[in-house]
Amino acid sequence: MLNQYDVIVIGSGIAGLSFARDVAKEGFRVAILTKKDRAESNTNYAQGGIASVTSDTDDFESHVKDTLEAGAGLCKESVVRAIIADGPDRIQDLVESGVDFSKLSDGRVSLGKEGGHSKRRVLHVKDTTGNAIETALLETVAGSDPVDLFEHFFVMDLITSYKIAKKNGEVPSGENKVLGLYALNVMTGEVEVIRARVVMLASGGAGQVYQFTTNPDIATGDGIAMAYRAGAKVMNMEFIQFHPTTLYGPDNKRFLITEAVRGEGGVLRNHEKKRFMPDYDERSDLAPRDVVARAIDQEMKKSGAHHMWLDITKHTKEMLMDRFPNIYQHCMKQEIDISCDYIPVVPAAHYLCGGVKTDIDAQTSLPGLFACGEAACTGLHGANRLASNSLLEAVVLAQKGAVSVIQYLKKNASGNVELPVWKEGDTANSDERVVLSHNWDELQRTMWDYVGIVRSSKRLKRAKTRIQNLSKEIDDYYWHCKVDPELLELRNLILVADLIIDCAMKRKESRGLHFTLDYLERSEISENSVVQREFNGFSSEAS
Ligand code: FAD
Ligand code: SIN
Repeated sequence: MLNQYDVIVIGSGIAGLSFARDVAKEGFRVAILTKKDRAESNTNYAQGGIASVTSDTDDFESHVKDTLEAGAGLCKESVVRAIIADGPDRIQDLVESGVDFSKLSDGRVSLGKEGGHSKRRVLHVKDTTGNAIETALLETVAGSDPVDLFEHFFVMDLITSYKIAKKNGEVPSGENKVLGLYALNVMTGEVEVIRARVVMLASGGAGQVYQFTTNPDIATGDGIAMAYRAGAKVMNMEFIQFHPTTLYGPDNKRFLITEAVRGEGGVLRNHEKKRFMPDYDERSDLAPRDVVARAIDQEMKKSGAHHMWLDITKHTKEMLMDRFPNIYQHCMKQEIDISCDYIPVVPAAHYLCGGVKTDIDAQTSLPGLFACGEAACTGLHGANRLASNSLLEAVVLAQKGAVSVIQYLKKNASGNVELPVWKEGDTANSDERVVLSHNWDELQRTMWDYVGIVRSSKRLKRAKTRIQNLSKEIDDYYWHCKVDPELLELRNLILVADLIIDCAMKRKESRGLHFTLDYLERSEISENSVVQREFNGFSSEAS
């Protein structure tokens, strides 16, 4: 590994790979660092597809309207318009990178329908869209000169000019700029210092902060935590999207049953096998996700049932095996034949609408730091994301980010400040590993029980106290022990949990994905929640 690059990309999901593909065209030296195997990402598990206006019966205005409506008054309209308008070109980029979207028998592209969409507009590759995108992008990008891809490199923290000043005992002054990062080489256990003119955060979401989630193990909010520690603005962390339909099972893992199943006529039924969504919303089973997840939660609480049912038995086995092969086979392994059995379903944490605040060109509030994909918060989703808008946002921001990073690199020469080497904690691997597993469980259960689909001021306060205790304990562990991925992830998750609670406590209303029993109505004033770390008492704004 070199110790100097023009651009370091953190993450090899759809956002990081698309960005690397575009920025490398200008010949800059790019490294992608990814903490596990290259394909391991939320992207790889996406099912429903990518929303974009591609048919004659659809139009940008309808997609904009649906997005704004789902976003419950907090979307940034200029961003919504820009992202939706760029959709068709970015779909074309994916096709050129080798993604073969499913087609109808007459050759037209097959379009799925999901909650909150007024039209069929979701391009998909059967029910394994994410895997098709991940595979195609990896083939296009990985190893292509001048992109180097390093697996099992865990990025720990960003190095900024303020942090260096602080280390040297100086009062930080001037602009706080990103100069590089520390990354743990998981295979050797060494921490490497890498200089970079630009860092692109494409490190994804934080579903692992909850006990039950659709997200794979990588989703631990590392990028958001390190950006916040470096002084970047983070916003809208209270807006956690719970997916209404994941397969109910005995362990914590939650396999997604795509909303496209309801798009093809699937209906929800309660413990008495009766339909209930028509009682909650006129859009019934295809209402936006926040509405459906809350309805399921209420039905479960009312009846004491452990799950609800999803019924797609109106279709034949042949149709279901062709349209949803992944779900069909997964359920079959649990002895559920979805062509004749109802599927037991429960909601689970799925998507983080908040993240590191960026503009439409992927610039964060910190010079040299850019962000795209689920780690970023552009203002597209507002208080609730419209289904299948996240893959769209990721590809649009990655492309716009590439353009703005190229401009940035042309204007900003490489600095020559010496970067401090990593100072290892003095204890070798602690024998108190039980602290990590215990605190990990406590964190996830606290968030699930007190900061879930339905919140209250009392529950949030309870959660805050517990998270503060966990934070103290893990900080102590962090500063004294040799680092490893489990410790780093837990430390990041605890910080992300704290940010979610802080943003949730600030919001004295129910809006979109934030529903609290103490403030049931939507307030007249609609504001995003922005938080920023007090850095050395120097940059302490919180707006
Ligand atoms: P990811 O794809 O999550 O990639 C993050 C990358 O960063 C990974 O490579 C990870 O290893 C790496 N990383 C993280 N931290 C570090 C670190 N510290 N050091 C080094 N590397 C790091 N959205 C849709 O629009 N349509 C869908 O149909 C859809 N279905 C979904 C189904 C499931 C089951 C899930 C979980 C999500 C789904 N989503 C869907 C959401 C969507 O998949 C994600 O929002 C999107 O893929 C995020 O892409 P990303 O590139 O930002 O992050
Ligand atoms: C799904 O397929 O239901 C997930 C789509 C999304 O998260 O946008």
